[in-house]
Amino acid sequence: MPITTYIFDAYGTLFDVAAAARQAAEEPGNEALADTWQALARDWRLKQLQYTWLRAIADAHDDFWRVTQDGLDWAMEANGLDDARLRERLLALYWELSAYPEVPAMLATLKQAGKTTAILSNGSPDMLNGAVSSAEISDHLDAVLSVEDVGVYKPHRKVYDMVGAHFGTSPADVLFVSSNGWDAAGAAGYGFQTVWVNRAEEPVDRLPWTPQHILSNLTTLPTLAEGLDA
Ligand code: LAC
Repeated sequence: MPITTYIFDAYGTLFDVAAAARQAAEEPGNEALADTWQALARDWRLKQLQYTWLRAIADAHDDFWRVTQDGLDWAMEANGLDDARLRERLLALYWELSAYPEVPAMLATLKQAGKTTAILSNGSPDMLNGAVSSAEISDHLDAVLSVEDVGVYKPHRKVYDMVGAHFGTSPADVLFVSSNGWDAAGAAGYGFQTVWVNRAEEPVDRLPWTPQHILSNLTTLPTLAEGLDA
């Protein structure tokens, strides 16, 4: 049966989460980031994600903007950065993260093939709207779904349920695409066919579920889509 609906994770999959620290490091006045921006970006992302999982387990939801700020505060302290102006700049850049270069053409190709496309993300609606409009990809998306509608983070099943609730699809109609190994695994456990975009050449996560497809970036996703329909 052909896949009708292509659902994308946002941060790390469509939007480059390291772009904020990388761009800030290039700006005058932020020389302190020259040697630390990669560690800062890694720690920021890891803490942000850990806080989503912990909040989901503890039934203590707050939105992604809160955990993004909390993750940055931990990461700045861990990397010896105590600079309120830099903090504000990094947070501002998070609202306008660049999309990976292949993303607009990939989405346009899927739309030309008559596919439904959407984002399903931990991001708050405002953050997602900011990133989608700065990347100029809103014309290629049928919906931007945020976990704020269910008040819990991935990989809770309530989040993946949002796809069927919105589009009337069953899991077999859906290809779920994420660069986060744990998210691709969670979506596979839910029943979606999944693609793990292994941008960082990491090992497969040791979880009870594994993605059916692994790509190194999104360039070849339309070719994979054609193959799935054949
Ligand atoms: C998201 C995070 C997991 O966009 O990257 O949902």
